[in-house]
Amino acid sequence: MIALFRHYPSLKNRLPYVSLGQFPTPVTRLAKLGARLGIDRLYMKRDDRSGLIYGGNKVRKLEFLLGQATREGAGAILCRGCAGSNFVAASAIYAAQIGLRCIAVLIPQPNAHYIRRNLLIDHRYGAELHFCSDEALVAREIERLVRLEKEKHGSPPQMIPFGGSSPLGTVGAVSAGLELADQVRTGEIPPPGIIYVPFGSMGTSAGILLGLKAATFKARIITVRVVGQKWADPGRFSDLFRETNQLIHSLDATFPVCRLAPDDIDIRDEFFGDQYASFTSQGVKAISVMSEAEGINLDGTYTGKTLAALIADSGNRMYRDKTVLFWNTLNSRDLMPLVADQEYRNLPLPFHTFFESQVQPLDR
Ligand SMILES: Cc1ncc(COP(=O)(O)O)c(C=O)c1O
Repeated sequence: MIALFRHYPSLKNRLPYVSLGQFPTPVTRLAKLGARLGIDRLYMKRDDRSGLIYGGNKVRKLEFLLGQATREGAGAILCRGCAGSNFVAASAIYAAQIGLRCIAVLIPQPNAHYIRRNLLIDHRYGAELHFCSDEALVAREIERLVRLEKEKHGSPPQMIPFGGSSPLGTVGAVSAGLELADQVRTGEIPPPGIIYVPFGSMGTSAGILLGLKAATFKARIITVRVVGQKWADPGRFSDLFRETNQLIHSLDATFPVCRLAPDDIDIRDEFFGDQYASFTSQGVKAISVMSEAEGINLDGTYTGKTLAALIADSGNRMYRDKTVLFWNTLNSRDLMPLVADQEYRNLPLPFHTFFESQVQPLDR
């Protein structure tokens, strides 16, 4: 059972939920990387193993969002993202697993190998993909698809928020914060004073912080911005934190009302690079440092940039006597066997360009 329901049993019947993942995810010590960076106690939260087919931070959000789709009797979900969206890939897989169709509106992004893999995953799991060349056209395309779905199937699809980060989706990450606090309590990991996590649609960082606060656990969250400012900023972060807190508290008054303090969270902008999903040399270096030391794969869009921040901050042995946690939000299940027999030419034509044009220089 997920930590949220163990601590607040009444929520089990009050929140929409479908079990998709494997929880708790382990915490492991990164002894070799820690030695290299001069951090005595460096740990990783292995959300990369949160699901058997596909792990990463999406699974926790989808348990609630797909739970809602099921509760409302939807036949399909409609989500959106960039072409290589991990969230859309996870949605396609887990929607198919519970018998829902997945419709996705995707926009361009700098090309990378993982985009090809995720598009083939979307296709393999039967997602209906629509390419939108410009973000400004997405709302109109969504309206058109909703209309079409109503005409064809009699009811609209369940709308899935960007990155899964509505208050309901964020509840999944609240459970992650409670889960980590439990792991500290049972001695699996010493209390981490500092936690590194990517800052995208913000549900992961807002939820983890809220879960930790509800468990009266104090840690500083260092969240590394990986999307444009338009999508992620302190004001929207505190709104999401507050609205998620209100949602849970309104369903179970024993869940505390938590206040955000200025030193709870440090939003770091300087590792973002020039645009979303554009790899940075610091991020790519961080990926190879992790791979050499621990044999763990990270990516250039999210986790590499986040580790780059941790590496920069650990300079001069600043974290020598601290317990530092790197929250691995990236799937680590091997998807290659699932896409090996998939042919990109079966995807809608606008997506072929990701297979036929070069990937960005830092991904070659
Ligand atoms: C691997 C990975 N890490 C982190 C994030 C960002 O999480 P959030 O959108 O909850 O801030 C994403 C979002 O797409 C992701 O794919």
